[in-house]
Amino acid sequence: MSDELILVKQNNAVLEIQINRPDKMNALTDAMYAAINNALDNASNDDEIKLVYLRSSGAHFSAGNDLADFLQTDFNLESNVVQFLLKLAALEKPVVAAINGAAVGIGLTMLLHCDIVFASADVKLSVPFVKLGLTPEGGSSQLLAQRCGDLKANEWLLTGRTILAEEAAGTGLVNQVFDSAEDLWQASDSLTQKMAKSSLDILLASKQLLKGEQREEVLALIKKEATIFGQRLKTDEAKAAFDAFLNR
Ligand code: COA
Repeated sequence: MSDELILVKQNNAVLEIQINRPDKMNALTDAMYAAINNALDNASNDDEIKLVYLRSSGAHFSAGNDLADFLQTDFNLESNVVQFLLKLAALEKPVVAAINGAAVGIGLTMLLHCDIVFASADVKLSVPFVKLGLTPEGGSSQLLAQRCGDLKANEWLLTGRTILAEEAAGTGLVNQVFDSAEDLWQASDSLTQKMAKSSLDILLASKQLLKGEQREEVLALIKKEATIFGQRLKTDEAKAAFDAFLNR
């Protein structure tokens, strides 16, 4: 149904998860994470599903955590948002992401657990944790440097500045940039359908070689970062930054 905030559909062997809250720039609430987590469990358990395809509706991929909802929800290792990151990082099947417009906070850090990332030319990525009185999450304190180099990761995480498409492609944050969102989604649909022609066994064995050895370390890192993030969330500094956004 199009009024659902997370749309899940199976297209042949591809499970498509579409963030569908365009009026709020696809900011993610606790309930939305819960819905995505169900879809990821389904992807993991169902042998008919070979890969996951993450995308969004409208002009933006995601403005990250819904800051109002975030303030009202307990944050701990069992929270839906942390469970989302853990499930995505643990998924043994490939994940392809298609991003356009803003990809902020967890809108970027979730990409570090995706195996292929396509973007449109209007993409604007950022990890503005410092501006919110927060620390890196989602494995980004290590994985961003692994993917893009430590100097870039340091700069992005310590300043929260915006990364445009050219820099994202040049540093390996995204695989390829397309002129428009329509081109992006068409290319991503086509790529995921092509990938689904491989057998599940081959996809699983390949991803195991690519990610298997590092998986436990990444899960531990996500939990360590979430513990520190949770402590920072309670500080006056973070509360003031959240208030400033919510009362603009
Ligand atoms: N949480 C809750 N609502 C959000 C949101 C978020 N993270 N990001 C955007 N929105 C909402 C806005 O409140 C606004 O809703 P309204 O029309 O009902 O007022 C709508 O989405 C559009 O956002 P707006 O801020 O007006 O768009 P913009 O183009 O001026 O700015 C951003 C875009 C991404 C720079 C800005 O929305 C922003 O900084 N968002 C917060 C990003 C963030 O800090 N995420 C969390 C990281 S941990």
